[in-house]
Amino acid sequence: MIEVKNVTLEYGTSEGKVLAVDNASFSAKESEFLCLVGPSGCGKTTLLNMIAGFFPPTQGEIRVHGQAVNGQGLDRGIVFQDFAQLFPWRTALGNVAFGLEMKGVAKSERERIALEQLRLVKLEKFAGSFPHHLSGGMQQRVAIARALAYNPGVLLMDEPFAALDALTRDEMQRLLAEVWRATRKTVIYVTHNVAEAVYLADRVIVMTPHPGRIRAEVPVRLPRPRDPLSVEFLEHQKMLLRHLTQKEEGPS
Ligand SMILES: Nc1ncnc2c1ncn2[C@@H]1O[C@H](COP(=O)(O)OP(=O)(O)OP(=O)(O)O)[C@@H](O)[C@H]1O
Ligand SMILES: [Mg+2]
Repeated sequence: MIEVKNVTLEYGTSEGKVLAVDNASFSAKESEFLCLVGPSGCGKTTLLNMIAGFFPPTQGEIRVHGQAVNGQGLDRGIVFQDFAQLFPWRTALGNVAFGLEMKGVAKSERERIALEQLRLVKLEKFAGSFPHHLSGGMQQRVAIARALAYNPGVLLMDEPFAALDALTRDEMQRLLAEVWRATRKTVIYVTHNVAEAVYLADRVIVMTPHPGRIRAEVPVRLPRPRDPLSVEFLEHQKMLLRHLTQKEEGPS
């Protein structure tokens, strides 16, 4: 479904080249919820942006549905961390309908679909509201609905709840788990929050500190909805933390 093969990315800067991702390989199956965790600066956003098609890898290859990624596409919906990702001059409904408009879907049909997506994230009552009248959590829900509206097979999410308070974040995670169960999208979800990864993921890809390599893949085979206070949950959290804090072997 998604294949990342020996992907390396070097940024060119005025001080020379910066290696951001170092020979990363992993894949995601259809309908799988994959979390990408790693410390700040390890290259998570860089990897996700390459899967989104914002720029190509320096080396290696990324395939989605067997097709080499070559630029952005409507087969991949994207949700960013930043609340400012919505169009401030469009209502919630207008934001969600945007991708459908790009696709040339007729007005009544795109409004029907947009409303359906807003219902999925429990915001149908706010269809006519503008982003600045919505809380951060609500804005992120609109962003999720917008990414889902044109029915992409893949949802790419870059720390979408990181800027929210802890209670709202928990609520958003529960909602996202429900949305995923209802839609069965293939999700690649970037976070540095280990508990969030254990709550959401089928499998967690752990990256090393900068420059990012893949260090481990940890399956999470806990029944859903998951109980963050269960012994098994905490054991998974501990295991991920161990991988994250593990020292590199050999000279660096
Ligand atoms: N446009 C750029 N030009 C040069 N270097 C960059 C650029 N973007 C990112 N980097 C560097 O590449 C590395 C990886 O950055 P990236 O943003 O992918 O990390 P991240 O894992 O998403 O971090 P965070 O958890 O803080 O969001 C970092 O060392 C960063 O400083
Ligand atoms: Mg990032």
